[in-house]
Amino acid sequence: MKYGYFDDQAREYVITRPDTPLPWINYIGCQSYFGILSATGGGYSYYKDARLRRLTRGRYNNVPADFGGRYVYVRDNASGDYWSPSWMPTQTTLEDYSCRHGMGYSTISSKRAGIRTSTRYFVPLDETLEIWQVTVTNERLEAADISLFSSVEFCLWDAQDDATNFQRNLSTGQVEVDDGVIYHKTEYRERRNHFAYFSCSEELDGFDTQREDFLGAWRGWDKPVAVEEGRSRNSIAHGWSPIGSQHVKLRLEPGESRQIVYVLGYHENDKDDKFDPPNSQTLNKKTVAPIIAKYRDIANVESAFDALRAHWDQLLGVYQVTSPDQHADRMVNIWNAYQCMATFNMSRSASSFESGIGRGLGFRDSNQDLLGFVHMVPSRARERILDIAATQLSSGGAYHQYQPLTKKGNNDIGGDFNDDPHWLIVGVAAYLKETGDFSILDAPVMFDCLPGTEEPLYEHLKRSIQYAQDRIGPHGLPLIGRADWNDCLNLNCFSDTPGESFQTSTSKDGKVAESVFIAGLMVLSARELSDIAAVSGKAEDASYYAKLSADMSATICEHGWDGDWFLRAYDDNGNKIGSKENDEGKIYIESQGFCALAGVGLEDGKARKALDSVAKHLATPHGIVLQQPAYSRYYIEYGEISTYPPGYKENAGIFCHNNPWVIIGEVMQGNGDAAFDYYSRICPSAREGISDVHRLEPYVYAQMIAGRDAPSHGEAKNSWLTGTAAWNYYAITQWIYGIRPEYSGLRVAPVVPERWTDFKVNRVFRGVSYDISVTRKGAGNAVTLTVDGTVIEGDIVPPPVNGVQSVKVEAVLG
Ligand code: BGC
Ligand code: NOJ
Repeated sequence: MKYGYFDDQAREYVITRPDTPLPWINYIGCQSYFGILSATGGGYSYYKDARLRRLTRGRYNNVPADFGGRYVYVRDNASGDYWSPSWMPTQTTLEDYSCRHGMGYSTISSKRAGIRTSTRYFVPLDETLEIWQVTVTNERLEAADISLFSSVEFCLWDAQDDATNFQRNLSTGQVEVDDGVIYHKTEYRERRNHFAYFSCSEELDGFDTQREDFLGAWRGWDKPVAVEEGRSRNSIAHGWSPIGSQHVKLRLEPGESRQIVYVLGYHENDKDDKFDPPNSQTLNKKTVAPIIAKYRDIANVESAFDALRAHWDQLLGVYQVTSPDQHADRMVNIWNAYQCMATFNMSRSASSFESGIGRGLGFRDSNQDLLGFVHMVPSRARERILDIAATQLSSGGAYHQYQPLTKKGNNDIGGDFNDDPHWLIVGVAAYLKETGDFSILDAPVMFDCLPGTEEPLYEHLKRSIQYAQDRIGPHGLPLIGRADWNDCLNLNCFSDTPGESFQTSTSKDGKVAESVFIAGLMVLSARELSDIAAVSGKAEDASYYAKLSADMSATICEHGWDGDWFLRAYDDNGNKIGSKENDEGKIYIESQGFCALAGVGLEDGKARKALDSVAKHLATPHGIVLQQPAYSRYYIEYGEISTYPPGYKENAGIFCHNNPWVIIGEVMQGNGDAAFDYYSRICPSAREGISDVHRLEPYVYAQMIAGRDAPSHGEAKNSWLTGTAAWNYYAITQWIYGIRPEYSGLRVAPVVPERWTDFKVNRVFRGVSYDISVTRKGAGNAVTLTVDGTVIEGDIVPPPVNGVQSVKVEAVLG
């Protein structure tokens, strides 16, 4: 069952009924001003930091879900009938409802009683504001008297305080209304020099800024008294809950359309020039006035929207594919790339599942996210890498998270997640291969953000490996620390205190429990560092790290192999995890996928055997589960993983983040059929037809799909902000299609399904446009490349001579 359809031409997903199983959201904003926007007008906005600069309220865990939003009410003044054209919050029956989620904008349209409303929401580039462009059309045969009431509920800036500290914050709210513009200025009187404003392109018939006056006592947003009576109260909020609502009256002739533009924005004044006149308490509006004036002009609104479109054309134009599979095409060309940019912009802060008040930027998450967006925004990737590296500790260890506003490591969570440092190497290698910008390795970068500690970035990479070398366990495998990629495998925790964090409480010295996953990761990271060293002329380092990688690979084969698959870990008692000797959790995906991806056991058949075991024990029609059998009880020695009921999250859920490791592992085996089959099982678009089972957005990945042990097998949770986006993008674009940046050029080494006869990729790489067409002449993956008419040796297309802007590559497979 479906709730809409893809409009690939327009790069939109069109939702055709508002009652999707769960809120289906989109994001607006891509620089400093951001918003979540659901298909029913729900969601909130913030400037830079979802916790500390929250402009409007969203209500998490509300019933119904998806509450608090950018709501406009339409009132027919003749009949008194009123409704929400985005369905929420009045839930009035609508005709022709649709929500088009596009690249950085959404348009919600509907009709009732002959009045059609269509609202386009977006954030113009280089602005700190959002636009709601409302078009109202009278499709009746007679004239209509209509009222529009807009509404936003302001957040008192710090979303955490706003949701908890009522004894104080119900007395702090302040607003001003001037020339029809509503200014929200809570705490501006003291230490803030920023405020929010809400303006409208029309003359107002009235306004409200105090929630209770607008809604009426004992009423909710579904039946505001001001709307019901068609009369604003012109209220000025003092404390309680400041809102913004504007009342506009329209008389529309038959067939007539009108556009009304609302602007909700964030603005900062100079600290020394906050008030006008200077010794008053009145907001200085001089610098915001021209911005408000600009978007009263529809022509400026339209050109801002065109610029946004052009921005996305450019970003998505870097990699475009035409293949026999429409699901993969639309994911790669549109939605997966778009989701990768969302993970870049939002990290893990604000979604339907992340409240925006919790996590900072994850060290491992942000490094892995790079794999998905580095080709679209290389200069911003460079900046991100340097920010992340500056939080690294001089031991080579890492804070698990850092805060986006301060860019400092987060002391509450601390470090000792022993996989973290390796991901820095993985991220930097991806950046170097994409850009060829080796100057980044010489950039001076602090440790722990302490001025005076600067060392070249290259030294940071070496320390990442050193950190692991300093933490080797009894079997020669890396010690796990608080956890590795699997945050819930907490082998040094042994927690028996309710509510204690599994990630931050440690009751063991950490000298025994080892991770085969980190070992596999280290095989890769040490090899990447060796390659980086080789290309930058450091031959000694190159051979040192190459040997380290090979040695670790050998150690895995000796102490990390269980006969039919790779072990997962050794616990604090030195017992195996992920072994046929265990009663539960006998086989885990992470070590199979990552070791196979890193090339461990590639030659002697271990990797093949491990992947066959994945197919046998872990693969389901909805994706590959994390481990089997699921833990049926709490194991104090394993930690959080065994807290989840079977089939959810790390306890045998389908973690869509690590499925691509198996996909790439199969590619390394030359098995394009299996790789693409696994890809398709979790591909959101390919699951669109079972939206009633999957339940979340069919245009983006979710972190998890419930595993086979869960009653709701196939149901997704935690969409949007997940490493799943980058890894699936990386797996399909670089490994299955095989178009892969290398230091010496662009590799073309597809491992696609046997039945694919041809496909094409357009790839912009280091400023050159590669037009690549692949044709299959026989079975297998052997490739012959013809570059601009000349057959070349091998599968790497070297960079063209200076000045050449486009290259034609013909690849013959088989
Ligand atoms: C979740 C993990 C998450 C961790 C850290 C756990 O409860 O299961 O997926 O990474 O919390 O926030
Ligand atoms: C979500 C975290 O963000 C990610 O870093 C982690 O690897 C997975 N959970 C698995 O536990």
